[in-house]
Amino acid sequence: MIASLRRWARKHSARGRYTPVGIWFHWIMAALIIYQLFAGWRMERLPVGVERISAYGDHSAMGLLILLLAALRGVWRLIVPGPINDADTPGWQAEAAHITQILFYLLFAILPISGLIMWSAITPAEPLTLAGLIPVPVLPLESLAMEWKMWILEAAEQVHGIAVIALALLVPIHVAAALKHHFWDHHDVLEGMLPEIPDGHSHPKGAQHRPRPPLSATGPNGG
Ligand code: HEM
Ligand code: HEM
Repeated sequence: MIASLRRWARKHSARGRYTPVGIWFHWIMAALIIYQLFAGWRMERLPVGVERISAYGDHSAMGLLILLLAALRGVWRLIVPGPINDADTPGWQAEAAHITQILFYLLFAILPISGLIMWSAITPAEPLTLAGLIPVPVLPLESLAMEWKMWILEAAEQVHGIAVIALALLVPIHVAAALKHHFWDHHDVLEGMLPEIPDGHSHPKGAQHRPRPPLSATGPNGG
């Protein structure tokens, strides 16, 4: 099963492309993350009341969906890592891109988990859900002393806030790097992450002609 997935993925990675699975994970999650950042910011600025409580519920439901997608995407990446493309040319830029990707995955986990801890330290007004559909139990913190719960609440709130700032800084850096690769350096990096239109017009220009390193030398790539 894994071997045949990797074989299928190699058809894409040999042309410097992520697989359709990797591409859809990327763009769906990018849209959800950008929405979540704006909606979270707006939620914090609502007057205290019913609308704000309902916004907290929606925010958590979306955040837990992001956690599930990030976990699935992480598993997918472990099975079929991204292609070798122009962003992998050795140097500080490749290092920076690698660190950014690791930080993204860490933040995709830290944000929802700290959010869940915040909810668990108080008695939630309504049950938490994943995407508004699947009930998610809070962590069993109710037996702790009130001072402990308050301490945990504040710590999780701070972690969530720092992670929000880190994500809000990383996203524009990542987007600027992707655009620089494409428009400035004329690299194949962005094209490899765009959905392929089956008429052949959207094949990565560079990737079509440039020979790739043999896969045996780079590992089982795919993305
Ligand atoms: C990737 C996922 C997430 C992102 C990007 C995110 C983003 C944000 C943002 C931008 C804020 C407003 C911060 C501010 O303006 O001070 C916020 C606050 C909050 N988020 Fe999230 N969030 C995520 C996941 C979650 C989850 C899964 C939960 C709950 C299960 C959650 C619970 C909360 C709570 C309770 C607050 C209010 C914090 C406070 O009162 O200081 N978040 N989040
Ligand atoms: C909230 C927004 C975004 C997040 C959180 C995000 C996250 C990521 C992550 C984690 C990867 C690693 C590949 C993977 O795991 O599948 C990646 C790759 C990539 N992203 Fe984004 N991304 C965002 C928005 C964008 C946008 C708007 C662009 C284009 C302008 C873009 C272009 C790319 C490209 C070209 C790659 C491939 C990089 C490579 O192969 O080295 N991303 N992104």
